[in-house]
Amino acid sequence: MISLSRRQFLAAASATAVTSLTAPLVAAGANDELRVVVIGVNGIGKTHLNGFPQIPGVKVVGACDADSAVLGTRTEEFNKKFGYSLKKYDDIRRVYDDPDVDAVVLAIPNHWHGLGTVWGCQAGKDVYTEKPCSHNIWEAGQMEKAAKKYDRIVQVGIQRRSFTHLQDFFQEVQAGVLGKVKQVKGVYLTRRDSIGRPTMPPKPLATVNHDLWCGPAPTKLERAKYHYDWHWFWDYGNAELGNNGPHILDLCRWAIGAEEFPTSVTSIGGRYAWDDNGQTPNTHILRYQYATAPITFEIRDLPTATGKKDTCKYMDLSYGIIVEGEDATYVGFDTGKVIDKNGKTIREISGNTGSDGGRQLHRENFVKAVRSRKTSDLNCSVKTGHLSTALCHLGNISHQVGQPVHLNSLPERVAQQPLLSDATSRMIEHLSANGVDLPSATVQLGETLEINPKTEKFVSSEAANQRLRREYRAPYIVPDNV
Ligand SMILES: NC(=O)c1ccc[n+]([C@@H]2O[C@H](COP(=O)([O-])OP(=O)(O)OC[C@H]3O[C@@H](n4cnc5c(N)ncnc54)[C@H](O)[C@@H]3O)[C@@H](O)[C@H]2O)c1
Repeated sequence: MISLSRRQFLAAASATAVTSLTAPLVAAGANDELRVVVIGVNGIGKTHLNGFPQIPGVKVVGACDADSAVLGTRTEEFNKKFGYSLKKYDDIRRVYDDPDVDAVVLAIPNHWHGLGTVWGCQAGKDVYTEKPCSHNIWEAGQMEKAAKKYDRIVQVGIQRRSFTHLQDFFQEVQAGVLGKVKQVKGVYLTRRDSIGRPTMPPKPLATVNHDLWCGPAPTKLERAKYHYDWHWFWDYGNAELGNNGPHILDLCRWAIGAEEFPTSVTSIGGRYAWDDNGQTPNTHILRYQYATAPITFEIRDLPTATGKKDTCKYMDLSYGIIVEGEDATYVGFDTGKVIDKNGKTIREISGNTGSDGGRQLHRENFVKAVRSRKTSDLNCSVKTGHLSTALCHLGNISHQVGQPVHLNSLPERVAQQPLLSDATSRMIEHLSANGVDLPSATVQLGETLEINPKTEKFVSSEAANQRLRREYRAPYIVPDNV
């Protein structure tokens, strides 16, 4: 159990408002019970409810959700599985007021990650926040400041960081095992369905506290399905690029040891084939310039062709990265292989991926750091999660400040840029197979935006710089001074 003095200290601290707390600096010892609450339990939060109790010394004590139906279902399931009742919280602020909570897991939508983390740190809780690290670039900096100021452990849920075989292998890549790296490619080639077009103005589910769900974001509702489909609206989500992009772009960046922002970004993308009111691209190409090597990323949410159920593949991968070196190439995702110039496998890269797609190893790593009180023990601190998530935000900003051009004009426009040109021809062929009328279709072409990696700002686009931060809806405001 946590010592009385720690709980007394936490109780005294939380009597003050969430936003004005000085965090307790008392560390949970190796044998103290760590009391965890999972916030947001619809999708991935369910796996956290199942995973955290498996870690010795950890007790999940509560669940929180803005949807009372989701909260009821998950707490009932938990009781059946683990044989005790969870405390139910219908408001994230009540979790932060509770002195008997040591750590929280934020499995809530992207627009809540920044504020949820800052509030959590201010309330003296350690935080495991899901990817993407933040909803915008500025708030990630605030998260980092809050973690430091209140001496909190904050892990970002980019779980492959906890694979020791990748930790070891990427060190070798950086030391030159593939020869000089010429380029890195990421692919996320999946298949999703259209979200449709609501015929009537949608109403929030009767069981949801919509004001709280929207938090820092506007409350206008434009989607028919309340949960999950927020990913495809900019106020809450960050497109597929910010949804599954953090996993892939993190691997790209990690492989070459790029520990800062790129020096430029270019985006090409659009939403095709679906008749719906989603706002974000379902087909997206990104290019990032780094001193070490360029990164390109291709995203497709459409199947191989109209009416098909299968997904595209690139070098046998639907999801993953290709690191092309002068001597050899790495192709992989959770595990991978090194191939020689003739495509022959010369080495397998594999190791323990644990359970739940790597998330269990990542949770264990979080708990280890909570016990040691060392951010350096984390495999994905805010700093690491931010650098990878920022690649998604930069790409989305290039898209948003871009201009529509005729799809047919694209090959000529990118002809001088071989990597983009190559990806573009694959994209056009794929869209054609999905019934897109090429002569009439347009594509959003983001201009190449120069970035200053030191200031983490765009060099000459004021329109782009304005998108580094959002407008927050009171009282759900990430403070300037955390
Ligand atoms: N690491 C991974 O592999 C992984 C996988 C899936 C999802 N995720 C991330 O996890 C997050 C959640 O995704 P999901 O698919 O479970 O979404 P979801 O929409 O299915 O569920 C989110 C839940 O959070 C609740 N919620 C919203 N605002 C809340 C608030 N202020 N307080 C309490 N509850 C609130 C909603 O009511 C809902 O039940 C996203 O950021 C997503 O990117 C990570």
